[in-house]
Amino acid sequence: MNKEKSKKIFRPLILVLAILGIVLVVYINSGPKLAQINMEDSSNSKNSSYDLEDPNRIENGIHLRTGLKDTTGLMTVVNNCTSCHSAEIIMQNRMSKEGWASTIKWMQETQNLWDLGENEVVIINYLATNYPPTKKGRREVLKDINWYKLEEK
Ligand code: HEC
Repeated sequence: MNKEKSKKIFRPLILVLAILGIVLVVYINSGPKLAQINMEDSSNSKNSSYDLEDPNRIENGIHLRTGLKDTTGLMTVVNNCTSCHSAEIIMQNRMSKEGWASTIKWMQETQNLWDLGENEVVIINYLATNYPPTKKGRREVLKDINWYKLEEK
């Protein structure tokens, strides 16, 4: 093997080794740093306002995970009504007791909602109390207005 030939073979080899070496150095250097960042992240989340450890945290009367109001029957509703769809669909609908009862019946007949047993009363009471039909328009009708007379010229 003459000198020229061996150069042709070894140059690419050395290049590849050099690249591998650089990659290795970068990997080793960033490894511990990445681990540190992860550790910082997990310690931060313990202090954050959204506590992952308590999925049923209540803040300002609102069940944070679902957005439902915290009154009697909340957890019955959470447990029976939020597994197929979000609570959003509940809060967007406002109904009387009869309305909620027939929505539940409709879901039981067509959407595989299970028999709610004695929880049904609890759920309907909760829904009709917190999400009743909106009777008001965009604003209340004005009362006791002092109309002024337009002067005719
Ligand atoms: C077994 C699954 C399931 C469960 C549990 C369930 N639903 Fe539903 N519900 C559905 C499906 C499916 C729809 C239709 C969703 C759609 O149209 O995107 C629906 C729709 C609705 C709607 C909208 C009805 C409309 O007229 O558009 C309301 C309100 C509702 N559900 C309330 C509830 C309440 C309250 C409970 C608890 C008693 C509940 N859901 C539990 C499956 C379920």
